[in-house]
Amino acid sequence: MVTFFNKIYGCQANFADSQGLAKFLVELGCKQVMAEKDADLIIINTCAIREKAEQKLYSYIGRLAELKKDKPHLKIGVIGCVASYKKKEFYEYFECISFVHGAREEISALQGYLAELILNIQTAKSLFLQNPDSKIKYLKQDRRLKKFFDKQATGSDQISISRLNLTEQIKESNTREEEQIKEDDTTESEQISDVRAMINIMTGCNKYCSYCIVPFTRGREISYPMSDILNAVKKDIDRGAKDITLIGQNVNSYIDPQTGARFPELLQKVASLEGDFWVRFISPHPQDMTKDLFQVMANNRPKLTAFLHFPLQSGSDTILKAMNRNYTSAEFLEKIGWIKELMPDAGITTDIIVGFPGETEKDYLATREVMEKVQFDQIYSFIYSKRKFTKAYNMPDDCPQEEKARRLSELQMRQREISLDQNRKNIGKTLKVLVEKELEPGKLLARTEGNARVLITSNNANLVGSFVGVKIESTTVVNMSGTVIVL
Ligand code: 5AD
Ligand code: SF4
Repeated sequence: MVTFFNKIYGCQANFADSQGLAKFLVELGCKQVMAEKDADLIIINTCAIREKAEQKLYSYIGRLAELKKDKPHLKIGVIGCVASYKKKEFYEYFECISFVHGAREEISALQGYLAELILNIQTAKSLFLQNPDSKIKYLKQDRRLKKFFDKQATGSDQISISRLNLTEQIKESNTREEEQIKEDDTTESEQISDVRAMINIMTGCNKYCSYCIVPFTRGREISYPMSDILNAVKKDIDRGAKDITLIGQNVNSYIDPQTGARFPELLQKVASLEGDFWVRFISPHPQDMTKDLFQVMANNRPKLTAFLHFPLQSGSDTILKAMNRNYTSAEFLEKIGWIKELMPDAGITTDIIVGFPGETEKDYLATREVMEKVQFDQIYSFIYSKRKFTKAYNMPDDCPQEEKARRLSELQMRQREISLDQNRKNIGKTLKVLVEKELEPGKLLARTEGNARVLITSNNANLVGSFVGVKIESTTVVNMSGTVIVL
């Protein structure tokens, strides 16, 4: 049997894609393993959003090359955003890489290639196991991915359907908050949580924020048909998923290619499906946010959760303009006002970049001011990373890196206080939570409607997948803790 390992860098869209591939490989008879050393096939899903993630990727591949010395039939492939624009370099600099498939390329081509590759690995593996000392020349024999692209039709319907097949459950550790806590751009998907399901409803981005590489790596926006999305949600619910996340680079730009329906309509339809489940979405763009979306959410609680990830990026109007974000801080705050008015208890999180080219102390303080006004439950904050292809790449930047690091750490310190205050407000309250997984014997991880983490002391692992009431007794910045009071 051929074993595979998924290494995932980056965002939730990458997780949904990799887990979809995992499902495809399992259907081919392969087995997912939890460690690189146990795998015959390693697929690395890459993230280009910040330079740090790219550098980590290269040292990771370097380490994998060592594994190949003892296991000549091991195949290593690279997919995702870096693969979109460094294909030649991967082949040139890493002999150990067998295939490279970019995020914009047709997924069915990759699936066709993998189906054949699995047969090759199977044969090579049995030959190797029969005679481990034989020198078998496998290198480069399988770099034939391109022919699969040439063979495939590229109609947009086909892209939609094949992409949708890539939606799957993800494991807990891909949560963005863990990524932020570890201050690390790397997350991995090794265990699939049956409780959470991620569904890509669109891919690509037309916004061209001046710092962002995504429109270049994932291409322009393509929304998938609503009927396919509804079927995918139903399938996940039937499989036992209880927390569904609809994913897109700009979910509120969603437009059904068949009917022209927009995102609020899609949400309404998802909420009308039978079953006991929660739905959330990431990420909407503040520019396109309309009040009717919040209205649909408020009218369909708790199935549509009171949770909003609303990327601010900067609180300075000068910087927002240079970032090409197309909103002012006042407009952002007005929209935050809408959600607070309709759902005062909503969980609200955001993304912030510090040290964008030209950001002054005054600009940075404007961001801090918005943070104070909104009181986000959590922020994901980053130092600006200069990315090829983007408009900001050539912008003059005279702010020293140490100063940017100071701004980031000061801002994160303040956010830790705010997050703690937000969590403390729940002490003594009973919250409805969804139990996601057993972290260790006697400790369960659950999540509130607003997406906050709750640790439950309980030996009852059967609670995984259930909605329960938890009395909150204590909290840290990241986790509230409590005991189950309603079964
Ligand atoms: N540098 C730093 N952070 C970035 N992001 C996107 N591009 C960059 C960049 N070049 C951040 C934004 C986005 C999140 C996913 O990553 O905050 O919302
Ligand atoms: Fe990047 Fe901006 Fe598109 Fe988000 S909206 S993916 S930050 S270009």
